[in-house]
Amino acid sequence: MGSSRLLHVPVMLDEALEALDVQASGRYLDGTFGRGGHARAILERLSPEGRLLLMDRDPQAVAEAEHAFAHDPRVSIRRGNFAQLAEWALTEEGLDGILLDIGVSSPQLDEPARGFSFMADAPLDMRMDPETGESAADFLARAEASEIADVLWRYGEERFSRRIARAIVAQRETQPLRRTGELADLLARLLGRREKGKHPATRTFQALRIKVNGELDALQEGLQGSLDRLRPGGRLVVISFHSLEDRMVKQFIRSQSGIPPTGPRNLPPPEAPPARLRAVGKARFPGAVELAANPRARSAVLRVAERLS
Ligand SMILES: C[S@@+](CC[C@H](N)C(=O)[O-])C[C@H]1O[C@@H](n2cnc3c(N)ncnc32)[C@H](O)[C@@H]1O
Repeated sequence: MGSSRLLHVPVMLDEALEALDVQASGRYLDGTFGRGGHARAILERLSPEGRLLLMDRDPQAVAEAEHAFAHDPRVSIRRGNFAQLAEWALTEEGLDGILLDIGVSSPQLDEPARGFSFMADAPLDMRMDPETGESAADFLARAEASEIADVLWRYGEERFSRRIARAIVAQRETQPLRRTGELADLLARLLGRREKGKHPATRTFQALRIKVNGELDALQEGLQGSLDRLRPGGRLVVISFHSLEDRMVKQFIRSQSGIPPTGPRNLPPPEAPPARLRAVGKARFPGAVELAANPRARSAVLRVAERLS
C-alpha cells in the first residue's frame, strides 16, 4: 500500500478548528479522514475524556487511520460512507461537532493506479471505495450517449458534453475505453487546447468522479444525517470544492433555518418549518498565504451551522 504514505495537506485547518469550536472533553466526528490532517489537530485539543470518531469510505484512508490512531482510546474508526453516518450508533448524548471535508484527497489523485488522474496512464477506475459501485470504465462502457452527456454537463459543466459522449460511444464500438490515458487522448484529439491553462480532460474527469462516487447524493444524505447526530449547540462544518456542492450545503442550511419556502405570490406564505440549524457567519475561503502554499485549496469553501434544540 505505497500510496498510504503520500501526503495530503489539510485545507482551511485553522478555520475548520475555529468553526468546530473544539472543547477538550467534546465528542467529534471527522467523516472524511483522508490522511488525518484535521483529525490530528482535533485530537491535539482533546483531553482523555474527549472522543473522536473517524470515518472514510476509502480502505487506504482507513488503513492509515488504524495505523496512526488504533492505539488511542479516544478514537473509534469506521470504514463507510458518511451518507450513512446516522446509522453509526455513536454516542447517546449526540455529537459536539461534525466535519466533512469532501471531495478527493491528494493521495487518491496522486496515485496513478486509482485512476483519478489524466496525468498518468492507469485503469480508468475513480472509485474512492474500489469494492463498491461501478468504475468509470464500466460506466462509459454501458451508458447511453445521452446519459454520459448529462453527467459531463451537470457535474463538469462541459460545454462539449454531447460531442464527447458521441465520440466515447463511437470509440467503444471498436475498443472500449479502459484506461485513463485512452480517455485523455480521445479528449485531447477531440477538443484540442480550448481553455487556457486547463487540460481538455479536466472537466470530463471531474464529472466522472462525481458520478462514479455518487458524491452529490452522499452529501445530501450526510447533511440530513448530521441533524440526527448533533446535540443542540453542536457544529456542522463542511468544506467543499465544487460550486454544486457548495450550493447544496448553503441551501440545506437555509432550508433548516426556519425560513418559510417561497410559494405562489397570490397565496399566503407557507408555514415556516421548525428551525433546526443556525448558519454561523457566511461562507469562508482560504487566505492568500494558504493559496500560495497549497494550490489545491483554491476552490475550497467552508460553511458552518449550529444545531438548534
Ligand atoms: C479532501 S479528503 C479529506 C482530507 C482530510 N481532511 C485530511 O486532512 O487529511 C476527502 C476524503 O473524504 C473521503 N470521502 C469522500 N466522500 C466520502 C463519503 N461520502 N463518505 C466517506 N468518505 C468520503 C475520501 O475518500 C477522502 O479520503
